[in-house]
Amino acid sequence: MIVDGVERRVFAEELAVEAGQLALLYRAREDLDVRSKGLLDWVTKADLATEKLIRRRIGESFPHDRILGEEEGDDAPRTGAGHVTWVVDPIDGTTWFVSGLPSWCVSIACVDEPGPPFLGVVRDPEGAETFSALGGHGLTINGCRVAVPRRGITDGLVGVGHPRNARHEPTLTFLRRLFAVGGLFCNSGSAALALASVAAGRLVGFFESDLRAWGALAGEALIRESGGWSTDFMGDRSLTTSKPVLAANRGSVAALWDLAEGLLEGWSRPDRHDSQ
Ligand code: IPD
Ligand code: CA
Repeated sequence: MIVDGVERRVFAEELAVEAGQLALLYRAREDLDVRSKGLLDWVTKADLATEKLIRRRIGESFPHDRILGEEEGDDAPRTGAGHVTWVVDPIDGTTWFVSGLPSWCVSIACVDEPGPPFLGVVRDPEGAETFSALGGHGLTINGCRVAVPRRGITDGLVGVGHPRNARHEPTLTFLRRLFAVGGLFCNSGSAALALASVAAGRLVGFFESDLRAWGALAGEALIRESGGWSTDFMGDRSLTTSKPVLAANRGSVAALWDLAEGLLEGWSRPDRHDSQ
């Protein structure tokens, strides 16, 4: 299937900015109506309205594309190849957003199923930054091409997300091993923003033991275009199951794999990535 990636990229960058502005507006008006989906798992009016806006805009411009979003699910579940799917998290980092912390984002990816994401856009509305990547076209931040330096595992922080309602042991094992080699971690509260930060060379890597497609795919597209390495979320051809995610600056792939050994069921260790 021939897909116009350039057109979708321009569209997604503009849409992510518009969506981020809408979410900011809700918070500024203190009109969030926070509801619980589980322990420390909230949904707000801002999440719902922002996803609605994104769905409406995609529907107007690309009526034949499928949309999978965190809040409203799958608009047209289909199987097999041959259609573009937009995978959307209107606010990734809702817990931080509700807490008044500035670390959250709008995350938009495109997948030409069953392949990996060919487009990823992450908008950080608080930092006014748009991270964008289209397969083969490189990574940009606010429209400027970025060259990412090579960084080892102790040259910076490793992002670690901890999924709610999941087993603690994989996260604790990863952290114990990271501390043992002298590394430090941060939890940015938004997996998509942490992955964008790896792509930009600000974090040396990222691990989360259990992530959904809307938290992983845009960041994965950014990392591939930055020259870094990431697990392949679509490797098992399933958009709807949650999976462990590991991503690394090209100077940290082997070291991060050592820390994640046994925690990445289903993925195989890349050959010789660090020496390339
Ligand atoms: C969450 C964030 C968080 C990650 C959780 C996700 P949400 O997404 O990405 O960083 O650790 O696993 O559920 O709920 O804020 O969209
Ligand atoms: Ca979300």
